[in-house]
Amino acid sequence: MIQRNDVYKYKYFNFYYVYMKSTAVANANIALVKYWGKRDKELMLPQNSSISMTCDGMSTATTVEFGNYKKDIFVLDGREFKQGTEYNEVTGFLDIVRKKAEIKQKAKIVSQNNMPTAAGLASSASGFAALALASSKAAGLDLNEKELSMLARRGSGSASRSIGEGFVEWYRGEKPDGLDSYAESIAFKEHWPEFRMLAVVVSKKEKKIKSRAGMAQTVANCSLYPCWLNTIEDDLKIIRNGIKKKNFTQVGERSQLNCLKMHATMMSTTPPIIYWNPTTIEIMHSVIEWNENELESYFTVDAGPQVKIICLKKNVPEIEKRLKKISNIERVIECRPGDGAKLIHNHLF
Ligand code: PMV
Repeated sequence: MIQRNDVYKYKYFNFYYVYMKSTAVANANIALVKYWGKRDKELMLPQNSSISMTCDGMSTATTVEFGNYKKDIFVLDGREFKQGTEYNEVTGFLDIVRKKAEIKQKAKIVSQNNMPTAAGLASSASGFAALALASSKAAGLDLNEKELSMLARRGSGSASRSIGEGFVEWYRGEKPDGLDSYAESIAFKEHWPEFRMLAVVVSKKEKKIKSRAGMAQTVANCSLYPCWLNTIEDDLKIIRNGIKKKNFTQVGERSQLNCLKMHATMMSTTPPIIYWNPTTIEIMHSVIEWNENELESYFTVDAGPQVKIICLKKNVPEIEKRLKKISNIERVIECRPGDGAKLIHNHLF
């Protein structure tokens, strides 16, 4: 078999070139129509399509180098993971990349998040999107956006949406091999620059039930789950059209409803899954009240206690002022529609 190093050798003027290192940065994304439930666990194929906004304020940078390592080394936010779920997910993902690129070298992976990890702020989405781009490049693959989103999907479903810019739709697809389940931008960031998501961090604790386990349990034993699936097409249509027409009320109202329906399915599984804490609920009540009193805003919550407030740029200062009156808020991160995943030159090691 021709070795990757040999490919470089011939490509780069007979110079023995062993530089298999790349760095990528990817933004997190927050879903307006949520993905909740898989139809294939191995290929990470979803039960339903979803729509998200790529968030410019929350990102992961990742450097991958394939080389003379005895085993894969994975460092996240300065902490080395030598075994366990995170380590296995990352090395399992790299096995997919190695197989595609026909290489055998182990890798060193260093990642840096600028948001709390695993607390419901989509760090796995930005993490696997950055890993997909950095590792595929470092392995000598040259994937297009569609292929990259399908690769990122294998790490974490929502990561498929962090490859694209602005507003992104991830198609459920019908094929058992997943070749029609990918994400693409439906509107670039310049289409609606006034759109905002305020990520309100109410706890930095790692969530007890990861979304992977939570959705599997919901699909397996929630009697409301079929209702969730039955209403998704309508939500997708309303939100897709709302984004195209920049109809904020249409997008905000339906996103909030979609979020509550997802949480209703989680809460009604056995045992119940409740990701909210008292501050989550206090913020939800406040947003509903502000909205009734001419401060247009909506909320959405993922598999964790953090609240994301959907609003327009002009209302950010007033909302931030009101949030200051609520106790137990650790941080508010303002996100506008952001870039898709990209390569950068500054390696992390
Ligand atoms: O892809 P995962 O395993 O991070 O699951 C994401 C699930 C939600 O955040 C709750 C919804 C979504 O579409 O992002």
